[in-house]
Amino acid sequence: MKIAFIGAGNVGAALADRFARTGHQVTLAQGREGSESVAKALARNPSLVARPIEAAVDAAEVVCLATPFQAVAGIVKELGSRLAGKILVDCTNPVGPGLSHGLESKRSGTQVIQELAPDARVIKAFTIYGYENLENPAFPAYNVKPTMMFCGDDPQAKQQVARLIEDTGFAPLDVGGLAQALHLEHMTLLWVRLVRVDKHSPHLVWAALER
Ligand SMILES: NC(=O)c1ccc[n+]([C@@H]2O[C@H](COP(=O)([O-])OP(=O)(O)OC[C@H]3O[C@@H](n4cnc5c(N)ncnc54)[C@H](OP(=O)(O)O)[C@@H]3O)[C@@H](O)[C@H]2O)c1
Repeated sequence: MKIAFIGAGNVGAALADRFARTGHQVTLAQGREGSESVAKALARNPSLVARPIEAAVDAAEVVCLATPFQAVAGIVKELGSRLAGKILVDCTNPVGPGLSHGLESKRSGTQVIQELAPDARVIKAFTIYGYENLENPAFPAYNVKPTMMFCGDDPQAKQQVARLIEDTGFAPLDVGGLAQALHLEHMTLLWVRLVRVDKHSPHLVWAALER
């Protein structure tokens, strides 16, 4: 698929690299001239290309948002109707003081994004872990893949994102409509607390076992 990344830091660069390695055509949006994160991501995987944000988005079927949540509203408003019909993967998390929810748990960041881009097909994915797991999701000692929960309201977009999740080495788990995004954002805060504060391994993941 043709995938554009807005944001090429810890998360964007890790996912862009993995998508490109599984045969996708990945473009990094050049947010501003001389972006260090874009330069580093290009050095990490020379098959990636960088283009101005409008051109990257116009050419993409899937646009991944991987910037700080605070930057999202400005970016999405600026892109306006360019996002219509695109699959917009929200990889961001609104984080508030003391690892609280950045929107006071009233609604999810993803729902805010869907409101700002009403004609985009918004899916929340790749958010419930730190970037270390996105770089390397292999757990060779276990006969199970780590779970990547995702949600969204567009069934066809969800199928395509599920395939992308598989391509990155995770087992996709569809947890429902966009209304579930708030729960995923809380799960993320839990993961961040466990790993960044309580010092569990950054390769801590969730697995879905059913019987
Ligand atoms: N870090 C994690 O482990 C992790 C895991 C899952 C989800 N997340 C979420 O993913 C998002 C990105 O986190 P990160 O750790 O990858 O951040 P990061 O390393 O700081 O990278 C942020 C990226 O966003 C770009 N950016 C910032 N403001 C922008 C703007 N106004 N327009 C265009 N690009 C802009 C930066 O470009 P420049 O370098 O040019 O400034 C950089 O490429 C956050 O919402 C975070 O909550 C993080």
